[in-house]
Amino acid sequence: MDIKIYHYDVVIVGAGLAGLAAARETTAAGKKTAVITKLHPLRSHSGAAQGGINAALGKDDSIELHEFDTVKGSDYLADQDCVELLCSKAPETIRWIEKMGAVFSRDDKGNIAIRPFGGQSKPRACYAKDRTGLTLLQTIYEQAFREGVKVYDEWYTADIIYEDNKVSGVAAFDIRSGEMAIFNAKAVMFATGGYGRAYKINSNAHANTGDALSIVARHGLPLEDMEFVQFHPSGLGGSGILISEAARGEGGKLLNSKGERFMEKYAPNALELASRDVVSRAIMQEIKEGRGVGPDKDAVYIDLTHLPKETILTKLPELRDLAIAFLGQDMLHEPIMIAATAHYSMGGIPVDINCHVKSTPTQIVEGFYAAGECSCVSVHGANRLGANSVLEALLFGRHAGENIVKDLDNLVCREVSEDDATRMITEYNWIKTNNGEESVAVIRAELQESMTTNAGVFRTADSLKKQQKVLEKLSKRYQNIRIADKSKIFNTELQEAIELGHMLDYSKFIVEGALARNESRGAHFREDYPKRDDKKFLKHTYAYMDKDGNIRQEYADVVLGKFEVQERTY
Ligand code: FUM
Repeated sequence: MDIKIYHYDVVIVGAGLAGLAAARETTAAGKKTAVITKLHPLRSHSGAAQGGINAALGKDDSIELHEFDTVKGSDYLADQDCVELLCSKAPETIRWIEKMGAVFSRDDKGNIAIRPFGGQSKPRACYAKDRTGLTLLQTIYEQAFREGVKVYDEWYTADIIYEDNKVSGVAAFDIRSGEMAIFNAKAVMFATGGYGRAYKINSNAHANTGDALSIVARHGLPLEDMEFVQFHPSGLGGSGILISEAARGEGGKLLNSKGERFMEKYAPNALELASRDVVSRAIMQEIKEGRGVGPDKDAVYIDLTHLPKETILTKLPELRDLAIAFLGQDMLHEPIMIAATAHYSMGGIPVDINCHVKSTPTQIVEGFYAAGECSCVSVHGANRLGANSVLEALLFGRHAGENIVKDLDNLVCREVSEDDATRMITEYNWIKTNNGEESVAVIRAELQESMTTNAGVFRTADSLKKQQKVLEKLSKRYQNIRIADKSKIFNTELQEAIELGHMLDYSKFIVEGALARNESRGAHFREDYPKRDDKKFLKHTYAYMDKDGNIRQEYADVVLGKFEVQERTY
């Protein structure tokens, strides 16, 4: 096969906030940069972030309080040096993106408006109505283009060029034409987003299939803390589409079928504004105990009818539209149905504080970087605070770009050859020609359904062992798939088959990590081990996959700091 080889200083995979922030920096510094994305950049999932981006801008707020809330929210698993960087640079990050053109909502005095979010002791989520992510994404997109970045959109990155602990590029194909290419570079960065599509009810875009994680893991590199999957309390009933935490921040009350404001039981002080893990479990507990609402009794209500109409129309217009479009419920006049939805991946590709990908807890891979949701720099630990992810993506994306620029002179570009595309070509051809009987869509549906049931908000050793077996069977069946479309042009069936392979692989990491972690911490709740166990598990999970798909796990120390590990109540 004819393989084109492109040469760049920097190749960035993913064009959400993290990828484009990095690309803006490297391009502005005169480094020849390519961004590769399987979507159009403005369809990246960062654009779906609704409620806000945190920065301690309020009069009686402080960076230290933001740090404390983040560490407490993480159930003490976050690395405190990275949290310090996140929170201390947050105000400057807001000014940076604002100066570049992001239009934030304003308060009466003309300052950037801030709203309360869960798990935070002060209002600190800066917002643009309920379209914050989209506003920021449009801004950074314009700015990256203004600097002259080259974007390869609708290109699918299928592999990294990895040898001797060094990454020298990626292998990718053009979804439009099937053209294959190698992008050779001194520095490669992954910023591909999260892995929520492994679950049936989720708030993620169809594209969030965790490709980067499995690509990395298939080279024997580790993934970190994969068992920590965040379930957002308010996904629209039935579909899981995000109903922003802003709805609770602006005063929304959660009610069960008896009309009870049940958060009084679970978080007597913070109520609906406890952290996400606490609120999601409370909702699912109410449903489990038979106090759910809706035709299948699998939701609860969020009631905003007591809010002034003006608040909803000016601050939550998108949420209102979504509930009307998907449920026929108008939040101005009636409570709407919500339930927990898989939302965010705390785990990911381990990176150090300067976004270098790690090959072990103490070693880095030369020329390889990651930032945003696909990475685990561990600022979120076991549970992320709302409005910290947009901040992380923008701030660490930019930070990665700056570090790449600093490192670049010391990185050597290994010349690549067509042979470096062998793995991609083999996988592509195998999927195209495999003559089995299994359907990709059927296997994917079974994966998503079983992950939701067995490795969801509540887990036990039994449910996780069951899921191990399900994954084993589904992986075998995957070997027997058949796709009908044999063409090269826009072959989405082929792409979905590759993505399913990725979803099956990283799901193993979620399940193995959850099974080995005999405790409950943040979003990982084991009904058979309901307590946190700091003695054994105040540790990050590092997991490695061998060639036969078996997972080996080890643990690494958490970076502690000025905040002592305490009991966590809201
Ligand atoms: O609820 C939300 O608006 C989501 C924000 C986030 O995940 O940070």
